[in-house]
Amino acid sequence: MRVVLVSCDLLPEGDGDEESLVAALVRDGVDVTWQPWGGPVDADLVVLRATWDYTEHLDEFLAWCATVPALANPLPVVRWNIDKSYMAELASRGVPVVPTAVVEPGQEPDFPDGEFVVKPAVGAGSRGAGRFTDHAAARAHLEAIGVKALVQPYQSSVDENGETALVFFAGEYSHSFHKGPMLAQGLGEAESGLYVEERLGSIEPSPRQVDLANQVLDVAAELLSLRRSDFLYARVDVVEGPDGAPLLLELELTEPSLGFRLTTGEAAERFSKAIQAAASGA
Ligand SMILES: Nc1ncnc2c1ncn2[C@@H]1O[C@H](COP(=O)(O)OP(=O)(O)O)[C@@H](O)[C@H]1O
Ligand SMILES: [Mg+2]
Repeated sequence: MRVVLVSCDLLPEGDGDEESLVAALVRDGVDVTWQPWGGPVDADLVVLRATWDYTEHLDEFLAWCATVPALANPLPVVRWNIDKSYMAELASRGVPVVPTAVVEPGQEPDFPDGEFVVKPAVGAGSRGAGRFTDHAAARAHLEAIGVKALVQPYQSSVDENGETALVFFAGEYSHSFHKGPMLAQGLGEAESGLYVEERLGSIEPSPRQVDLANQVLDVAAELLSLRRSDFLYARVDVVEGPDGAPLLLELELTEPSLGFRLTTGEAAERFSKAIQAAASGA
């Protein structure tokens, strides 16, 4: 069985987080290799992992995805998930999300009171995301990025509690990790050019967070006319809302870091098994 993990030219073998996954696949006898996206690829399953430069090459990336025979997650999932306006769709289906307004280029935004975040609808690694109170500065930022953007009230719980990432394989909960706040006042600085360095740790989610993550996956699967087990991997990032209840900040179905370094080896084992089941068409 041959499996390709997809990366990008800047990080051909990812950022090292997946070493335990590769080891688990090799132990299970899988022929696994890393390959940057863009070239011809041939495998039983091609798993998007560290493709973090795609936001600057979106059309090219999606065109390449369309040429890949057995892509995980599949192209319709990637297309839908790459544009964070899915937040509004999930909200309209009753999912508790961080309140999200979608602003088209040139459109006059209606900013929330107090502190708020402006971020590109297609973005990763906190690039282009900024935290504002001043409307003129936020307008200037929207103009500077010049693309569809999301505007959200800043969730101040993030300053103290950060966010919790809940990871699922083939629709089943696996493990969680914790991320510190990413946005200082103003703009995030991406030193690596790919992502703002994250402060991460291990965490146990609350039952309410797990319930929310399950709801998010169920509704997303319904919207896409899929079973949630069709999501080979999924990461649900939740924060605490103003009343303490969890809110969705982001659903990552394209190229999320899965935090293998932050949890036990069992997570990599679980992902290895899910990959093999998907690769064998089970
Ligand atoms: N509404 C918000 N309130 C508080 N922090 C936010 C908000 N939106 C984004 N952030 C911060 O910015 C980071 C990046 O935003 P996110 O929506 O997760 O996009 P991505 O991870 O795809 O770049 C988050 O990890 C979080 O720290
Ligand atoms: Mg994020």
